[in-house]
Amino acid sequence: MTAMNRNNVEEIKARIPIEDLIGSYIKVEKAGKSYKARCPFHNEKSPSFFISPDRGGYYCFGCNAKGDIFSFVEQFEGLDFRGALKILAERAGVKLVHDEKADGERDRLHRAMELASGFFEEQLVKSSEAREYVKSRGITEETCRAFRIGLAPEGWRNLMTYLKGKGINEATMEKVGLIKAKDAETSKSGVIEYYDRFRGRIMFPISDSSGRVIAFSGRILKDVKNADGSSPAKYLNSPDSPLFDKSLVLYGLDKAKSEIRRLNYTIFVEGQMDLVMSHQAGIKNTVASSGTALSEETNNSAGIISNLGLVRRLSPNVIIAFDSDSAGRKAALRAAGIALSLAMDVKIADIVGGKDPADLVKEDMEKWRQTLKEAKPVIEFELGNVVREHSGGAGSQNDPRKLTKAVTERVLPLVARIDSSSDQSHFVAMIADQAKLPIDSVWQDVRVVAKRLKDAELAANPSSANPNVAANTFTSPRNTIVKARTSSEMPKRVDLIERRLFGLLFLMEKESVNNAQLPMKNEQIHNYKDQIKKMAGDSYESRVKFAEENRGDLMFEAESFFGTDAGADGENWIKPMKELLSNFEEDILSDEIISAMHELKMVEKAGDQERVMELAKKCQALSIRKAQVGKTTLNKK
Ligand code: UTP
Ligand code: MN
Repeated sequence: MTAMNRNNVEEIKARIPIEDLIGSYIKVEKAGKSYKARCPFHNEKSPSFFISPDRGGYYCFGCNAKGDIFSFVEQFEGLDFRGALKILAERAGVKLVHDEKADGERDRLHRAMELASGFFEEQLVKSSEAREYVKSRGITEETCRAFRIGLAPEGWRNLMTYLKGKGINEATMEKVGLIKAKDAETSKSGVIEYYDRFRGRIMFPISDSSGRVIAFSGRILKDVKNADGSSPAKYLNSPDSPLFDKSLVLYGLDKAKSEIRRLNYTIFVEGQMDLVMSHQAGIKNTVASSGTALSEETNNSAGIISNLGLVRRLSPNVIIAFDSDSAGRKAALRAAGIALSLAMDVKIADIVGGKDPADLVKEDMEKWRQTLKEAKPVIEFELGNVVREHSGGAGSQNDPRKLTKAVTERVLPLVARIDSSSDQSHFVAMIADQAKLPIDSVWQDVRVVAKRLKDAELAANPSSANPNVAANTFTSPRNTIVKARTSSEMPKRVDLIERRLFGLLFLMEKESVNNAQLPMKNEQIHNYKDQIKKMAGDSYESRVKFAEENRGDLMFEAESFFGTDAGADGENWIKPMKELLSNFEEDILSDEIISAMHELKMVEKAGDQERVMELAKKCQALSIRKAQVGKTTLNKK
């Protein structure tokens, strides 16, 4: 890791004004010397999110989110630091100096996936059979290259042998799900034997939003049978891994996101073929659920933005276009329900005749465009289906009780998931009209269904309330860290200040061992540590533990920002350390204020007057201290 990294960061910062960057994600308004916007990190009606071009930073007075262009991209796109660095470097036209020495755990995993993608691509080019197949599906060579479609050849150890030759060890390959261990009984010797997970499959790499391959989905190439006579699954996906969490990723999102922002809606399809073909037809705001899993929440337990949550930030409008078979229909309505509860505006594009978007595009891409144009709001769509099926027309029964039952089962759950009561009224009136039901009874049924949904949700997930409410509640960035530390291996979106603080501390410690000439004395480093300890209080141990687990990443980030050279008097590191410390203290105080206020509300309800006074005093004292600390910190104007 050279000082190059630091130059990269400086250069990227110089080339990308923060107001332009943030303005490309959300609407920003000029307000004197700074800019303001509605905070993308919590729900709010009036803007409390401020951008300071002078400082190159942002700060939200509502939820305390703060940082620079790097942390903005991380938080907004659900990426780690390196992912954000990649996106911003591309945007700034800065070529990142690839660092061969960068050999942290995550680097190794990423490298294995990258090499595997290259291997599969090469195999496809070499196989006329595979190329024929891809062509027969209507995929052009250009599309193949753009999506890096590849081939996992038949045979048990092709990829494994190749990767070994590139210096990747088996543990790494297994960790990202490229190889599997044979069962102990079937393995002849005592040693673990591995084999390629993907064999005889067309490979679709799944990327994170910065375009790094983090998983694969493989489609079977030929009809083959397993040893026991059963058929292998048509599509096989990578298991969850330290790089891949199904609920955080959507297939194609890296290629679709800028077009989603531009057109202000997302098209959501089911399969990888559908996605690839839709993009090929020029409809590039398409994403697919394939190989991933829709999350019911906007943020996962580690505070990382979920797949649909990310799509919603890009645009609240979505058209769902799934297969027309009954499984596809069911999946579409489930997705619609989740999207509605995330306060999205959902339409359904009705594909008829047992086809899917890939079929339509292959036939005639105008048909695909037309289908999308005719998309209907989901409730209207499903209400139409229900009424048609029970109206006594051809092939349907005319039975008012059955109609009411179908409305309650299929339409009202969708209505119940809508947050806005004026939108609800609109649909309740529509249902009453079309199903010829009294409006009061429809309202009553909506309430019953809503309660049932809520109970079911609480039973399934007692710790979280309604995902919509959870998304709207006030969560400080630091609360998410506390949760992040308890969950296992995913990239944690730890608060930027804390990460850089520990990163810089690690850097100092390392240099003090290697370099006797370091201008910082050991006592000084100890002193910084003591300060952190004092500020963090009870949470110190868990914070250190988390930082230790991510030492490599944190140091890389710190080196990127503060350089590897402390300077003759340590000035390159000491000044940032002081700033980070006071920012850290301020964050901790904010958190304490939040929890004290929360407690205050609770005891107020309980009517404990003495405790109310106590807590009110505590809140006040904390606020005063925070204001004092705040005067010296980075992000305030
Ligand atoms: P489909 O069976 O509709 O597949 O499943 P498809 O996209 O039309 O596939 P092609 O056109 O025959 O290649 C829809 C999606 O469900 C997932 C895949 O993502 C698929 O695209 N799926 C399907 C699996 O994950 N595993 C399976 O075994 C089958
Ligand atoms: Mn299909």
